[in-house]
Amino acid sequence: MPSSAPARTRASDLLRAARCEPVTRTPVWFMRQAGRSLPEYRALRAGTAMLQACTRPELVTEITMQPVRRHGVDAAILFSDIVVPLAAVGLDLEVVAGVGPVVARPVRTRADLDRVPELTGEHVPYITEAVRLLVAELGDTPLIGFAGAPFTLASYLVEGGPSRSHVRTKALMHGDPGLWHALCDRLAQVSGEFLRVQVQAGARVVQLFDSWVGALSRSDYARFVQPHSARTLAAVAGLGVPRIHFGVGTGELLALMGAAGAEVVGVDYRVSLTDASERIGPGHAVQGNLDPALLFAPWEVLREAVVDIVEEGRHVPGHIFNLGHGVPPDVDPDVLTRVTELVHDVSAR
Ligand code: CP3
Repeated sequence: MPSSAPARTRASDLLRAARCEPVTRTPVWFMRQAGRSLPEYRALRAGTAMLQACTRPELVTEITMQPVRRHGVDAAILFSDIVVPLAAVGLDLEVVAGVGPVVARPVRTRADLDRVPELTGEHVPYITEAVRLLVAELGDTPLIGFAGAPFTLASYLVEGGPSRSHVRTKALMHGDPGLWHALCDRLAQVSGEFLRVQVQAGARVVQLFDSWVGALSRSDYARFVQPHSARTLAAVAGLGVPRIHFGVGTGELLALMGAAGAEVVGVDYRVSLTDASERIGPGHAVQGNLDPALLFAPWEVLREAVVDIVEEGRHVPGHIFNLGHGVPPDVDPDVLTRVTELVHDVSAR
């Protein structure tokens, strides 16, 4: 049973915006709001490997709370990583600082698939525990649970690590569609279950990250990706939580991403919220989309960009303010606090 939090968080502006209902202020949170931009994070994480840190509920709770306390954002996002469920089912991988996830033995053949078993809640007891601790501490502020979408996870597994071109992934997709679909089918189970575990423990919103899917054409997306992302999102359909779906460079894919089963589509800075909302169609909220680079611009420049986005957001069915991608590790965190206050101030009605 989820805790009593749902009743109290129902009125949250974030949940209301996600459902295209009126809000008192534009809700705001930042992708990667927990992490290296915060000195208190760097102090806590010192000496603990990333994936190790993700298995310690008290540490996860503290790291997740840090940006909520500091910035006054409208949501917490569970401190974890998209590869946590893959490590949990036994894949040998590491998250290397400054690089990203690195997989010891890439997954490229049918025999390799046997190394990716289905996920159950028993693989990730520390996630259930961390979410329960957080929900108790967060009060009215909703917790966002998340997972990586099958394409982005497959890219790490097939390439063996981060890739700019995704050449091996695309070669597998086109060269052996049967194996590709079998791999993504398995990853959809893993990610879907990972989301379900978080929601059942009390997460009130979920975000499915397909960070690198902007590397694909619309037809490849429709054929090789959308059915698997749809299956992942369907795992939490009917649980009453809004589903956000985000990727980078997805201007051509926004409508298909919404149609995969997301109430909210995350937009990067390359497409305006107005254009994005038109492409996605009525009944969907949008999330975004300040270019993270502007966090380094003079305040007056940044201020104008933030106000413009809030203003644009008033004319779409629902808007959650965020960056177009994650918080850069070297940003001054005080700037994020100021942006949060500004979004709240200029949108108050
Ligand atoms: O605050 C939050 O947003 C929650 C925490 C979070 C992390 N990873 C923590 C993390 C979230 C939502 C993620 C998701 C994630 N992980 C994505 C999707 C989001 C996106 O940026 O598109 C992706 C692609 C990954 C894979 C991954 N893990 C990358 C690319 C990196 C960065 C590598 C680096 O060091 O620059 C990681 C590591 C990682 N995940 C860090 C954090 C805070 C940094 C590691 C550290 O602090 O030691």
